[in-house]
Amino acid sequence: MKPTTSNEIRQAFLDFYEEHQHQVVDSAPLPVRDNPTLFFTNAGMNQFVNVFLGHEKRPYTRATTAQKCMRVQGKHNDLENVGPSPRHHTFFEMLGNFSFGDYFKTDAIRYAYDFLTKACAIDVDKLWYTVHTSDDEAEKIWIEDVGVAAERVLRMGDATNFWMMGDVGPCGPTSEIHYDWGPSACTCGQPDCGLLLDNGCDRWLEIWNLVFMQFNQDQDGTRTPLPQTGVDTGMGLERITSVVQQQPVNYHTDLFSPVMDRLQELLGDDDQARQEHETGYRVIADHGRAATFLVADGVMPGNVGGSYVLRMIIRRAARFGRKIGFTGPFMGAVAETFIDHMGEAYPELENRREHVIHTLTQEEKRFARTLDTALAQLATILENLKKVGETEIPGGVAFDLYATNGLPLEITRDVAQEIGFTVDEAGYLAARAAHAEASGSGAFGQYETGTNAYADWMTKAVQAGQLTAEGVDYDPYGGPFLEAEIIGLFIEGQPVETVPADTDADVVTAASPFYVESGGEVSDTGKITIEATGCTFTVNDTRKPIPGLIVHHGKVTQGELKLGQTAQLQVDDTRRAAIRRNHTATHILHRELRAHLGTHVTQAGSLVAPDRLRFDFSYEQAVDKQTLAQIEADINAAIMANYPVAIQYMSQKEAISAGAMALFGEKYGDIVRTVQIATSQQNKLYSFELCGGLHVETTGDIGLFHFTSEGAVAAGVRRVEAVTGTAAYEILSAQASLLNQLSQMLNTPVNDLPVRLDSLLEDNRQLKKELARLQIKQAKSQFDSLLDQVQDVDGIKLLTAQVDVPGADELREMADWFRNEAGSGVAVIATIAKDRPLFVAAVTADLIKQGIKAGDLVRAVAQVVGGGGGGRPDFAQAGGKDASKVGDALAIVPDLIRSAKS
Ligand code: SER
Repeated sequence: MKPTTSNEIRQAFLDFYEEHQHQVVDSAPLPVRDNPTLFFTNAGMNQFVNVFLGHEKRPYTRATTAQKCMRVQGKHNDLENVGPSPRHHTFFEMLGNFSFGDYFKTDAIRYAYDFLTKACAIDVDKLWYTVHTSDDEAEKIWIEDVGVAAERVLRMGDATNFWMMGDVGPCGPTSEIHYDWGPSACTCGQPDCGLLLDNGCDRWLEIWNLVFMQFNQDQDGTRTPLPQTGVDTGMGLERITSVVQQQPVNYHTDLFSPVMDRLQELLGDDDQARQEHETGYRVIADHGRAATFLVADGVMPGNVGGSYVLRMIIRRAARFGRKIGFTGPFMGAVAETFIDHMGEAYPELENRREHVIHTLTQEEKRFARTLDTALAQLATILENLKKVGETEIPGGVAFDLYATNGLPLEITRDVAQEIGFTVDEAGYLAARAAHAEASGSGAFGQYETGTNAYADWMTKAVQAGQLTAEGVDYDPYGGPFLEAEIIGLFIEGQPVETVPADTDADVVTAASPFYVESGGEVSDTGKITIEATGCTFTVNDTRKPIPGLIVHHGKVTQGELKLGQTAQLQVDDTRRAAIRRNHTATHILHRELRAHLGTHVTQAGSLVAPDRLRFDFSYEQAVDKQTLAQIEADINAAIMANYPVAIQYMSQKEAISAGAMALFGEKYGDIVRTVQIATSQQNKLYSFELCGGLHVETTGDIGLFHFTSEGAVAAGVRRVEAVTGTAAYEILSAQASLLNQLSQMLNTPVNDLPVRLDSLLEDNRQLKKELARLQIKQAKSQFDSLLDQVQDVDGIKLLTAQVDVPGADELREMADWFRNEAGSGVAVIATIAKDRPLFVAAVTADLIKQGIKAGDLVRAVAQVVGGGGGGRPDFAQAGGKDASKVGDALAIVPDLIRSAKS
């Protein structure tokens, strides 16, 4: 039956190719981990790049997917078209079929044609086809094998009919299928309007791109033929749905209409208002859908990379929302509607419903605090530029708007464009780079070098039968020891035959028991020995530079390693036992965090090391001490309950539907490894996660769990660190002996320490008070005896004296006493505190009028002792260095007074 809804079309596509022996493969997650220049999957073929290049083998040669894609950066960026364009999106779903050395052009074309015209019953008279100018073969297939009208097959050049994912990688000529909406849909107004003009006219809709993979392009642009040809096709679900549903605007298909309706309802718009605000509706719908999928795949809003893109689209949608009448958060409602309609096809949406809604709403609220200020500032900036006849916002100014008010460049650009202004984007990037350097934040991670040498080596090893196409026989689960042949040796990434003593190298063996870092768990270390010769290689790290290839990295500490030797591989099992404890403890922690803080808490990253574990999770506020203590208690209760930990393999679908927790944005195979922690209650699992890591056998093996810290890592992301087993015991036991030490020092039992310390602190407070009282009393009696020393300087009463008081407080008191006693006069009093001279000066109001100022007096006096100071005319204070000159300093005061008066 012909599919009509978007959900039916997606399913019909996958079913069609499955019937033609294609393996249905799940969409790869949106975030891309191993390519620092591409943040998000941007085509269906991304997850198969290594298969096309011949570096990776899969158990199938035909595949089909509905792939989540984002096109917001790099070579393929559609951001600015979103809204005005009826057919461009940031996030979209790409339906694709792939052949890896299996069928080529004929079947690719035939399948596509059959799916469109038979399965979807699309009118053949509306379809047009393009082939690359050089591609006689594809043209012939369309006309002779498929039988389409010759005039409908057009030849076009590289710009439209040669496809590459980025600047390097697998690529090839393409054949595209276009749909003609008819003359009434023409927007270009050209009398000869046609596909060949390639002018973006809305009449012509590209619906399917068939790429004939033939080459690998290098950094320098050289194209070498791939080991085998392949097929990579991509059809946007949004576009095919628009054709099937005969809605030339994607936003009017059932992929978007539920959200467009919801927005109308929330805004209370009538149909006319909705139409007037159509662009805003579209941007919100598009960005809201992209943000929903990104957050469900584990991306959090932030300032760099993919996190910035997420922040930017949420904020851009929020600003459009403000324009069309929203005054409060609305993205949660948008996400909810998408999850309702797409949750069945993408269970990750349903599983993370609360987390997605919460994250979007929080980011909207965060932005709401600065949005109005930022827009007002931008309006002033534009106004000022206009006055001086400028039409470009300087880059530094645009960056400042982001750095101080969180206004992304893309919004500044939108606002600027609305009144015909531009932004100096190169200047913006320069300002951002300068800021990043000044604040010490680094650039993206580096690519591992030498990857190609490993890929070439592996291809040869597979051809020579030393390895299967799957690569090294990886068995970290079967125990810490294995015997295997050394089949590859590398020094600095280059293959060698022997490695001498004291040399760093990579060793490849036919099989390996060493765990390779994955899912947060660090790699194993250990040693490789050659019993026959006594050679030893210390393994410091285990890595996987390309899929299937495991290399042990380390140093030959004794003897010489040679290819072909039989080696004994021994994992450091004590270290591994600590890692296992921390890994199972991490699952227990995950479970208890959700139990105590709510199920919207989701894992945002983790580290499982031998000495500690670290766990990042989405949560808005700090976890208070009491709750943290309760979580720690419940984790320890689960450890003491000694629950069995079972490993079970099952199909991914089965695991997810049974409630297993999968990591955000992680790619799993069809058969997954699950870790189940069972309570004694039948049929009730305590914890159930998809995980490839190493675990203890029963939770009791963990021994003990103890938090060492709780803090924030980013907005909305908290981090806890903890220790288990011996490490936990050591920390707690060190703390216990510290308490014992304190108990001995204070001669008080440990339990009474708080009471004892309280009373000591109180005694201390009382003593300090008493001391201060006595010091003032003592100062007063010193002061009283000073009054005899008051001199008369031209009719002015002057007291200069060096006293013995602890500090400036007492000196100030004395200055006050003087003013009270003398009624009219000047005092300069000094003391020596901690070997340094200190002075205060006081002048009564009547004398200030005569030109005598306390500030001037102390400044001059302090100069004599190598110091400085100042203050008000009636009171000032100063310090100096040379205590032996205090007398000299005071001696100049009468002259200072005389000269101030005159
Ligand atoms: N890789 C091609 C594209 O993205 C076909 O899937 O258009």
